[in-house]
Order: sequence, then C-alpha cells, then structure tokens
Amino acid sequence: MKKIAVFTSGGDSPGMNACVRAVVRSGIYYGMKVMGVTRGYNGLIDGDIKPLTAQSVANIVQRGGTILKTARSKEFMTPEGRKKAYDNLKKHGVEGIVCIGGDGTFTGAKIFFEEYGIPCMGAPGTIDNDLYGTDYTIGFDTAINTAIDAIDKIRDTADSHDRVFFVEVMGRNSGAIALEVAIGGGAEAVMLPEVSGEVGPLKEMFNNRKRKKSFSIIVVAEGNEEGGAYKIADELKQAFPEIDARVTILGHIQRGGSPTAYDRVLATRLGAACVEGLLKGETNKMAAIVNNQVTLVSFDDAINKTKELPDILGLIDLMNV
Ligand code: F6P
Repeated sequence: MKKIAVFTSGGDSPGMNACVRAVVRSGIYYGMKVMGVTRGYNGLIDGDIKPLTAQSVANIVQRGGTILKTARSKEFMTPEGRKKAYDNLKKHGVEGIVCIGGDGTFTGAKIFFEEYGIPCMGAPGTIDNDLYGTDYTIGFDTAINTAIDAIDKIRDTADSHDRVFFVEVMGRNSGAIALEVAIGGGAEAVMLPEVSGEVGPLKEMFNNRKRKKSFSIIVVAEGNEEGGAYKIADELKQAFPEIDARVTILGHIQRGGSPTAYDRVLATRLGAACVEGLLKGETNKMAAIVNNQVTLVSFDDAINKTKELPDILGLIDLMNV
C-alpha cells in the first residue's frame, strides 16, 4: 500500500489532531504518501483531498478540535454520494483509509468497503466513550476532566449560596461521561440514560438524607430519559419547594480544549495502529485499547455490541453516608 487517506468525522473530540498526526507520520515512516480529507465524508464527496507532510501536522499534538474539520455527512448515506467519494479516491490513487470518529463514521466506512473494497481502519474519536471493544475513546479523558473542572467551580458558588445544582453533561445515549464525572466531581446523585425511573429514588434520597448538606451537585446525562437537567430540577422543586435549585448545561465546552496527556498518548498509539493494520492487510477494524494494550476490534462489534458502563455506580451511595 503506497497511498492512504485520513479524515475525521462526526462530533469532534480532543485528541483527534494527535491522531491525525500519528497517522500521517507513521504512514510516512512506513514509506507511504498520506492524503488529508477535509470535513469527513463530505470532503471525499467534494474531492477535498490534499497531500499531508510531516510538517503539515507539526504543532498540533496539543490542539483541540481537528485541523481536518469534521462533519456528519447526509450525502454519504446515499449510493450516489458514495460513488462520488470512490471516484475521487480513485483519481488520487488512494488505496486505504483511516477514519477517526464514532459509530456513524465506522458504519459509513463499512458500507463503503462492502461496495468498493477500499480497506479502512478506524480510530475511536468521540468524547462519549460509547464504542464496544475499547476501554477508552480519544477525547473522553479530556472531556471528563473539563467537566470536573467546571463542577469544581460550580461547587464554590453552590456552597456559598446553599444551592442544589443540576449539572448536565454530554452523552445522548451513554452515561459514561456522567458516571465518571459524578464520582470524580463528588456528586450526590447521577441520572443516566441506561437507568430508568431515577426521579423517584432521587426524591427519596432528598427525603431520607442521613446528614444535612448545605449544597449538592446532581449530574445529569443529556440523554437521560426523564428529560434533561431542567426537567428534573423542576420536578424536584415541586416536591421540595424549599430547595434553591440551579441548572448548568456544560454543553460543547466538553468537546474543546487541549487534550490531556492520556488522550494524546492514546491517539498516537491508535493512529499508528491503524496505519500498521492497513499495512498488514486489515480492514473494517477499529484500533482499540484494552487493559492498556492496543488491539483490533471489528467495526461490526464496535458498532453493534453495547458497551457496558463500568461497575462503579454503587460508589455514589458509598460516598453519601
Ligand atoms: O457524540 C458526541 C456528542 O458530543 C454527544 O455527547 C452529543 O450528544 C452530541 O455529540 C452533540 O452533537 P452536536 O455537536 O451535533 O450538537
């Protein structure tokens, strides 16, 4: 394989740049030319494909976002869009692809391989940490640290005013961020998309508090089935009118910022593993980290199997004696 292309796709995540850098530099190390595609699958369709050099990816290991830009492409979901993408790759002589993104990105790559046979390796780039087969995704560690840093600040004002703060974190379908942020941020409760009927127990907890607390933090995952932090705060205020409640939605600040050391190293390991995978003839696989070892997982498993949350929810109760 002499020429490969790399792109980022789906929601951006801190560490994507470090991963792009790893793909470009390890590709060059192994004697290949590496092309950069702008705006994910949209760039493939529009022919926005340019050569990258070792110098093109200098000074980006520490930068959040993605220098290649990213998008969620509707057109790539159509056969016509994928045909255009294939024609452009052919035109540039690209023989293999590395895509950095989440389940939507890998789903696209899998269909594309089935139709056109261009080998593809994926690096898991999403703050959600919701892909089966990898302990961590690139960006998760940075996102939870950003959220915990925000919660530390909220604690100051919550404490000063004796307030209950409902802090909403990202995670449409997964409570991975919420769970770790709740434990690391010293929250009194967490509301997860994976658990149903959580408002009842939350009210009970407020009723049966074992010790008086001047303030508290409740972490809510955005995909929570009860309807988000505002809705839950309203319900609690109705049940306990004496509570002075406030809501903070952390939103996209969780997606930005300089990646942590962990994310940079992970991104570098997984980016290099993708290139090495292509050279060994692998395709339709995600480079993953399991017990600190790099491994490969099929796109099918990464997309279709459900990643369980770590078994740490019980710690919230243990910390609330
Ligand atoms: O998948 C990453 C993620 O940040 C989710 O946690 C969140 O639900 C979603 O993307 C937000 O997407 P957008 O940036 O398109 O609003």
